[in-house]
Amino acid sequence: MLARLALLSLSLPFLLVAAGSGSLFTSSVTYCQPPTELLVQQFDVSYFQVNNSISFDIVAQSVGSNISVSASILFNVYGITPVNVTIDLCSLLGGALCPLPQYTFNGSQSLALPAALGVSNRVPAIAFRIPDLEAFAQLTLVDVHTGEVQACVQATLSNGWSTRQIGVEWATGAVALFTLLVAAWQSTKPHAILPYRLLDLLHFYQTIAASALLSLNYPLLYRAFAANFAWAMGLIASPNNSRLQHAIDTMRALTGGHLANSSSASAVGLIDRKISPWNTNIVTASSPLTQSLLADPSASATNSTPTNLLLAFGALQQLSSVDEVQTVTDDSSNVLQAGIPIYVNSIHIATANAFMTIFIVGLVVVAIALGIAGLFYGSLYAMDRFGWGKEHTRSELKSSYPAYIRAWALRLGLIGLFPIMIFVFNQWSLKDSWLSTLLSVLALLAILAVVLYPVYRTLRLARRESPDALEFNLEHLATHGPLYAQYRTQRYYYFLPLLVAAFVKAVAIAAGQGHGMAQVVVLLVVELALVAAHILLKPYHSRGGDVFSTYLAIVRLVCTGCMIAFVESIGVGAIARVAVGAVIAVIFSIAVIVLIINIFLHAGVNRLWRRNNQDARAPSRQGSADASTLEKGITPHRFSATADNTSATRYSTSASILSHTDRDTNK
Ligand SMILES: *[C@@H]1O[C@H](CO)[C@@H](O)[C@H](O)[C@H]1NC(C)=O
Ligand SMILES: *[C@@H]1O[C@H](CO)[C@@H](O)[C@H](O)[C@H]1NC(C)=O
Ligand SMILES: *[C@@H]1O[C@H](CO)[C@@H](O)[C@H](O)[C@H]1NC(C)=O
Ligand SMILES: *[C@@H]1O[C@H](CO)[C@@H](O)[C@H](O)[C@H]1NC(C)=O
Ligand SMILES: *[C@@H]1O[C@H](CO)[C@@H](O)[C@H](O)[C@H]1NC(C)=O
Ligand SMILES: *[C@@H]1O[C@H](CO)[C@@H](O)[C@H](O)[C@H]1NC(C)=O
Repeated sequence: MLARLALLSLSLPFLLVAAGSGSLFTSSVTYCQPPTELLVQQFDVSYFQVNNSISFDIVAQSVGSNISVSASILFNVYGITPVNVTIDLCSLLGGALCPLPQYTFNGSQSLALPAALGVSNRVPAIAFRIPDLEAFAQLTLVDVHTGEVQACVQATLSNGWSTRQIGVEWATGAVALFTLLVAAWQSTKPHAILPYRLLDLLHFYQTIAASALLSLNYPLLYRAFAANFAWAMGLIASPNNSRLQHAIDTMRALTGGHLANSSSASAVGLIDRKISPWNTNIVTASSPLTQSLLADPSASATNSTPTNLLLAFGALQQLSSVDEVQTVTDDSSNVLQAGIPIYVNSIHIATANAFMTIFIVGLVVVAIALGIAGLFYGSLYAMDRFGWGKEHTRSELKSSYPAYIRAWALRLGLIGLFPIMIFVFNQWSLKDSWLSTLLSVLALLAILAVVLYPVYRTLRLARRESPDALEFNLEHLATHGPLYAQYRTQRYYYFLPLLVAAFVKAVAIAAGQGHGMAQVVVLLVVELALVAAHILLKPYHSRGGDVFSTYLAIVRLVCTGCMIAFVESIGVGAIARVAVGAVIAVIFSIAVIVLIINIFLHAGVNRLWRRNNQDARAPSRQGSADASTLEKGITPHRFSATADNTSATRYSTSASILSHTDRDTNK
């Protein structure tokens, strides 16, 4: 904990030092009332700290005739309202704005603000560097005679910094790909460790992504962090409207879908106003700035056109370009609720497109896997046909190949199970396109078949014979080993609690949308049970395996526990939630780094080091194989024994052929 606090405080000086060259710009613009008097087509305003100037690119129209308004400008940052000013436009500029002239403003310019406005003093330096700033500005025009709201525009502000980084997505993806390649090589041995680490890694990525799917009031910072891992759930979309999303939109429209389409625009403008970054339920207006912005004569007397007025607004009210400005009120249907809708829309996937996106990404993965499997099968066939390689090797490869493929199908199923369950259940709750629903049923049945058949076979074998049979039946071990081979023989059933936990979590996430507290409690109970199971059952072959897996389970438990701070009904303040979000993100990041280091160590990096040792203690040939095997207890002996005992053990022979060649090249 101390280390993490130190880490956080280390980054603070960086934030402050880097300040001074920052800028603030609008990240979304929405109407908070259906527009009548003020129409905004484009509102792109930036404030530059370095030269205290604003740049704007605005297309706006005032269309009302004979209305006199007062303007209110409200600025909300992390739920605090430091600025809440009301200006009676009739009292300004000798009444030039009273009644409001009908005027279309279209222009872009960059100009320095007069120091007298004091904008640079009012914006704290941290606002320019803190990632995923939660701030918005609101301009309201109220009719001075009737008191009716004539126009209301809201804009969120950003400083361009975010915990969502494309580099992180590529790096985590590259690690997963590397693990996959090494695992594909190592997985000829059923006890090789990397295939299990591949599942651990992807499941952990999915845990992080899924942790942002609950109906909680996440700080923007945490949701952006979790979005780095969305790809592990199969949620892949490009920022500008991708063809895939468009195709899904069309498919849904043709099959009875009625829900909103994907959009390339930022989703932040559509987020429910009660939660981050809007934070309008916890307004602690501690002495808001009430002095009139335009009371300063040097700022107002220079020019008497609405242009200048808009500029002055721009100082506090900085809006941005969007495709089309939408109206978002408490009861409009386009509001994004906490949970899956906000998460997927912020990565440019419509809520109703989420399952189809995963489905299509899944199909692509399956197609690639089938292609590779076919390619290998083709080369085996060619080897046979043209007599390449030793006859013995060929027949061993051919006989072990089906088990290898089936083991990888099981691994793919285990990887896809959690996201598919979440989004299938979520799809059912949407009642959108019938085709999406049909495909979701088929996808669920398919993945359950892939995962549950091996579960059934394994449990049956263990019951009919004995758990030991799971190790001795090498055919079964090679085919269904991914389920249980990493556990001790007495604990072969340990995959059951994990599968049940994944199911309960998926149901809680998908069916519990809208009930954040209940979701957190269910997840907390599940994670607590998993930690207890790890500690009580100690399922792994080695102490190291238990410690490692328990560590990951504890990380999940602690982070889920911290999420209680995000429950809306508890009403934790925005700044405290950002701090908690940062702590969770750091804990998860450290765990990912630990996982990656573990993977690199098991991928053979430590083999280099071990070989030096091995030369010293001469005859231990088994050493290099150990580096990538789960435990020292059973495997090496059994495998070298059965390798000589050819007829009974087709699979293990070819496995040891591969590991022999491996070792020979090492020498
Ligand atoms: C504008 O409205 C004011 C007050 O409602 C009214 O007194 C005035 O006559 C109106 N002017 C025109 C041109 O309609
Ligand atoms: C801003 O001020 C207006 C009146 O001056 C008040 O009605 C409103 O509640 C204030 N808003 C906030 C968020 O403080
Ligand atoms: C604004 O001005 C630009 C260039 O002057 C023009 O291309 C654009 O169409 C105008 N927009 C509107 C909405 O009038
Ligand atoms: C202020 O600085 C920004 C960024 O360096 C620049 O784009 C803008 O033109 C400058 N504005 C003025 C008025 O110099
Ligand atoms: C999509 O975005 C990239 C860069 O972000 C840009 O180069 C490309 O032109 C965009 N494509 C479309 C169709 O807007
Ligand atoms: C979504 O897009 C499709 C075509 O791309 C269109 O037919 C449909 O009306 C759109 N639906 C909504 C709700 O905008």
